[in-house]
Amino acid sequence: MKQLLIEETTSTNTLLKEHPDLIGPMTMAIALRQTSGRGQRGNFWESEAGKNLTFSFHFKPEGTAPAEQFAISEAVALAIAETLSAYGIEARVKWPNDIYAGDRKICGILIEHSLFGKEITRSIVGIGLNVNQREFRSDAPNPVSMWHLTGRKHDIESLAMTLGERLEKNLGIITTKEGKETTHRNYLGSLYRGDGLPYRYREASSGEEFMGIIRDVEPSGHILIEKESGTTGRYAFKEIVFI
Ligand code: BTN
Repeated sequence: MKQLLIEETTSTNTLLKEHPDLIGPMTMAIALRQTSGRGQRGNFWESEAGKNLTFSFHFKPEGTAPAEQFAISEAVALAIAETLSAYGIEARVKWPNDIYAGDRKICGILIEHSLFGKEITRSIVGIGLNVNQREFRSDAPNPVSMWHLTGRKHDIESLAMTLGERLEKNLGIITTKEGKETTHRNYLGSLYRGDGLPYRYREASSGEEFMGIIRDVEPSGHILIEKESGTTGRYAFKEIVFI
């Protein structure tokens, strides 16, 4: 795997998108500082320079059609949870792909696919993992870092190595049908609120609040939540709020 260590850039996702010349088949671009780190929904991603692991990973997904692209999210989220577990941190995946420790967010993922016909031609997976940052200033809900959870500083380079290896391994697994199935089972087993108990949700369109149980996540990424009434709601990202 090709690794690039960059002192400063706007956003590692943008850098890889705009500079195909930098890209090998599997490339990891790590930045010490991002001047306009991007989060989901157009949000800014807060990360103090040199304190966290902020990088993007470029690869060409083999054997994954656009309709099953959520397998990539699952493989990536599991790679992060597994890496954190190796550091003694129990992390869960908040659907679709936020990584939580308890009720606090430790890592965010921004995946951008390029599609051509029935193929994903390339994927850029951006990961922001809070490592040694102690104070967060933005209005991001409940951020937490590895430092908060373990009470010590962590070496960012060796963390990047461990996570890079897990990503490579997990993305290799989903190239087969069986691998996708195993990954999906593991993803469901790692879900925040995935313990089969009812939790409170709000439907964004109707404003309706209800207690529901997460039943599954489809290959497209839609989540299925069974309501107390017995009906099952199917939601895309942004259509349902966890409360
Ligand atoms: C989120 O909002 O949860 C997603 C955050 C993703 C942040 C990472 S940091 C490295 C990469 N470059 C970016 O600009 N964003 C992603």
